[in-house]
Amino acid sequence: MAPSPPRRAALLLATVLLLAAAGSTPGATAAGIFQVRRKFTAGVGGGAGANISALRAHDGTRHGRLLAAADLPLGGLGLPTDTGLYYTEIKLGTPPKHYYVQVDTGSDILWVNCITCEQCPHKSGLGLDLTLYDPKASSTGSMVMCDQAFCAATFGGKLPKCGANVPCEYSVTYGDGSSTIGSFVTDALQFDQVTRDGQTQPANASVIFGCGAQQGGDLGSSNQALDGILGFGEANTSMLSQLTTAGKVKKIFAHCLDTIKGGGIFSIGDVVQPKVKTTPLVADKPHYNVNLKTIDVGGTTLQLPAHIFEPGEKKGTIIDSGTTLTYLPELVFKEVMLAVFNKHQDITFHDVQGFLCFQYPGSVDDGFPTITFHFEDDLALHVYPHEYFFANGNDVYCVGFQNGASQSKDGKDIVLMGDLVLSNKLVIYDLENRVIGWTDYNCSSSIKIKDDKTGATSTVNSHDLSSGWKFHWHMSPVLLLVTTVCSYLIC
Ligand SMILES: *[C@@H]1O[C@H](CO)[C@@H](O)[C@H](O)[C@H]1NC(C)=O
Ligand SMILES: *[C@@H]1O[C@H](CO)[C@@H](O)[C@H](O)[C@H]1NC(C)=O
Ligand SMILES: *[C@@H]1O[C@H](CO)[C@@H](O)[C@H](O)[C@H]1NC(C)=O
Ligand SMILES: *[C@@H]1O[C@H](CO)[C@@H](O)[C@H](O)[C@H]1NC(C)=O
Repeated sequence: MAPSPPRRAALLLATVLLLAAAGSTPGATAAGIFQVRRKFTAGVGGGAGANISALRAHDGTRHGRLLAAADLPLGGLGLPTDTGLYYTEIKLGTPPKHYYVQVDTGSDILWVNCITCEQCPHKSGLGLDLTLYDPKASSTGSMVMCDQAFCAATFGGKLPKCGANVPCEYSVTYGDGSSTIGSFVTDALQFDQVTRDGQTQPANASVIFGCGAQQGGDLGSSNQALDGILGFGEANTSMLSQLTTAGKVKKIFAHCLDTIKGGGIFSIGDVVQPKVKTTPLVADKPHYNVNLKTIDVGGTTLQLPAHIFEPGEKKGTIIDSGTTLTYLPELVFKEVMLAVFNKHQDITFHDVQGFLCFQYPGSVDDGFPTITFHFEDDLALHVYPHEYFFANGNDVYCVGFQNGASQSKDGKDIVLMGDLVLSNKLVIYDLENRVIGWTDYNCSSSIKIKDDKTGATSTVNSHDLSSGWKFHWHMSPVLLLVTTVCSYLIC
């Protein structure tokens, strides 16, 4: 089922994505800026009366696809999903054209709607003009043929019907029946390079991405349609992997989302400050899986069967910033809820669009316990009441955790941790060392990024990026994407 457009999405959060990259000459100074926006409002975590069922509809569709992706790996290709919460503006081709793509940690390729797509939307319900990519209209664009190394590497060998001049095609079908079909192309990814004096100039890097010819289901028709998806998955096909292979970046990215003030950061590169503790990524998983060990509520460890969090088929814990809520297996959900409301036996619940809601006049942070998830290697994730509850009108709060039993059969035993618990933390995906880590952080403040070659560090203040920032970057092969998120009302 297609997610309905969130009506209040008009109150989009505006973000700025800064891309700093090595120039082709050694020692060149490089950084660049993209615009990034958030699809949903800050309704979860603060806003009153936001249409909360739209969030779950979003997750539901995405969740279905996520599991389909986990269950049906296709020729080693990561599967794009249709709904990421963030989108960015990128420039492709020569001369460059603008494309709005969703930023998604749950998928592995960059693809945009192609000129050959007959049913692709030209306008989005998000109020954006969409553009179809035409490789022939770009002097740097060319088709990727099936006998090229990228194609063979992506599909684990030469394709059966591969002859001369046969394009390298991809085709993905999702659990909910929607699909995307297209061919790979190679072209210049353009970005605004920031020079030593803080000015910008155009720069580029060559990347291979999908030219989407046919999107089935709501991928092509959704009112939230964009030009495509920018996947930050681990596979070799992702833009990040390609830039890493080209020696332009370290395979590390981070995000920090402020649900209190609406600030935030999205970066590529080596974050040296704040320091974070990390937990190993589970090997050979198509998503970012980690090992959850135990859960404390208010300092007391829940008594749960030892096997419940073990990784395995249709089990385990996925970190996914493209999902909004957090999903727990039924037994875990029930135990967490019992412990959270232990001191509030008198509370009466009512149903708001399928969410568990209640009236509470005081501060939830004073009246309810902190939940702490403990991961392998002693990494803890603290989730505070104002994060696991979201306000829905005056003194009304709803529970942001969802019972896995209400999800698809395949998903019922999976712990899926979305933005709800990943917010107000700097989350670092260090794919060089195959770990993921986080720390509680003020996402409206700054982080420090290290230049690989010189060892110099640079402070990136999220608010500096929106206008007139000065940032001296002594570049070596490091690419840095920094996003600041700030609401239209503030910036
Ligand atoms: C909220 O969204 C749901 C589906 O996402 C829709 O059915 C419903 O009509 C919306 N309600 C309001 C008040 O906009
Ligand atoms: C893209 O990069 C190539 C090679 O570095 C350069 O010749 C070309 O001018 C660049 N184009 C733009 C628009 O920066
Ligand atoms: C990804 O690329 C790396 C380095 O080029 C290579 O060693 C590895 O085997 C590739 N992985 C897959 C799944 O193709
Ligand atoms: C977070 O950082 C911003 C910018 O430095 C600052 O204005 C704000 O007071 C900080 N918030 C908290 C809770 O410390």
